[in-house]
Amino acid sequence: MRDILVNYWHPVEEASKISNVPLPITLLGERLVIYMHMNEPVVFKDLCIHRGAKLSGGVIDDSGSIQCPYHGWKFDREGNCISIPSMDASKKIPPTWCIHKYKAKISFGLIWVNLSEKPEAFPTWPSDAWNDPKYKVFLVNSYVWESSAGRIAENAIDFSHFNFVHKGFTELADGPLIKEHDVKTNGDQINYEYYDSKLLRKYRIDFPFTVHDSKQVINTSNEHKTWSERGDSKEGDTTILTFIASPIDANLSKIFVFMARNYKIEEPDTNFTGGFDEIMEQDREIVEEQKPENIPLQIRAEVNVAVPDAASIHYRKLFTDKAEKLIDGPVDADKLFVTNC
Ligand code: FES
Ligand SMILES: [Fe+2]
Repeated sequence: MRDILVNYWHPVEEASKISNVPLPITLLGERLVIYMHMNEPVVFKDLCIHRGAKLSGGVIDDSGSIQCPYHGWKFDREGNCISIPSMDASKKIPPTWCIHKYKAKISFGLIWVNLSEKPEAFPTWPSDAWNDPKYKVFLVNSYVWESSAGRIAENAIDFSHFNFVHKGFTELADGPLIKEHDVKTNGDQINYEYYDSKLLRKYRIDFPFTVHDSKQVINTSNEHKTWSERGDSKEGDTTILTFIASPIDANLSKIFVFMARNYKIEEPDTNFTGGFDEIMEQDREIVEEQKPENIPLQIRAEVNVAVPDAASIHYRKLFTDKAEKLIDGPVDADKLFVTNC
C-alpha cells in the first residue's frame, strides 16, 4: 500500500510552524528533515550519507545549506555535498555525494510533501472555497492520533456513528436509520449526498485521506441542532469541514481539520469552533482502539451493511482497485491493509 500512497501529496505541518531551524518529521514511515529557506520549504531524507546521523540535529546557514551535526558535512539546498571539514579542501567532492531531496510545497497554509518521482495531481478544495470571497476558510486545529490514516478517514466519511458517539453534538435529525443514498466513485474521488430533514450533507473523499463534509441548511423549521449551528441559521448556510489525515506511520497520523463557512464571515472564527475538540475526542477514543489498526481490504474481514456502509465499501474498493492496477492483477487482499506503510 505504501507504493500507492507515496505518489500522493500529504500535508506534514502548518507552514507557519516551519522556520530555518530544521525540524524532524515522519511521513509514511520515512524520516524527513524540513526547514524553510526564502519562504520555500526544503525537505530531505533525515539521514546523512556519511554515517547515517540525523541531519535534523544540524544547522542551516544563510544560503539554505544544512550542516550535519556529526562531522559537519554541509549540503546545499538541492542536497549536494559542498563541504567536508575533515577532507583536504583541494580534493573534489564527487557529485554523487548528495542527500535525497523530496518535493514540497505550501498550499492551504500547510506544507505538503510528495515522496515519489511521479506525483499525482495536487488536491483542490470544493467550491474553490479558498478563493471564493463568499467563503471563509480556516484551520480549526490539528491532532495526532495513534491510528492509521485509513481508519481516521473512514471515520470521517461515516455518519451512521453520529447518533451514538456524538449525542447532542452532531446527530442526524431523522435518527440513526440511514436512508438509501447514492455513492459514486469517479477517478480518485468519491461523492455522495445525504439529506436528514434539516441539513443536506455533501461528502467528497479525495483519495487517499482527505474528506470534505459539507453541511447546508435546507430546512430552518426543523428544530434539530448540530454543534456548528445557531438559532439564527438560514437556508443556504453552508459549513464545510475538511479532514486531512496524514500518515506519519502505519499506526500514527496527524489530522488537519479545516472549516469553511459562507455565513457570518466577519465574525471571529473562534465563534464557530466551540465543542469541536470534544467531538474529535469522542472519535479518538473509538478510533484509536479499533482492531486491526489498519483497514482490512478483505471484504469479509469485517461485516458491511449495504446502505449505511456504502461509502466505506466504495472507499475500500478504491484502494483494492489501485493495488490491482499497481501489480497488474488480483491482489491478495488478506495481506492488504490501509495503511501498512
Ligand atoms: S554522519 Fe553526517 S557528517 Fe558524518
Ligand atoms: Fe465522529
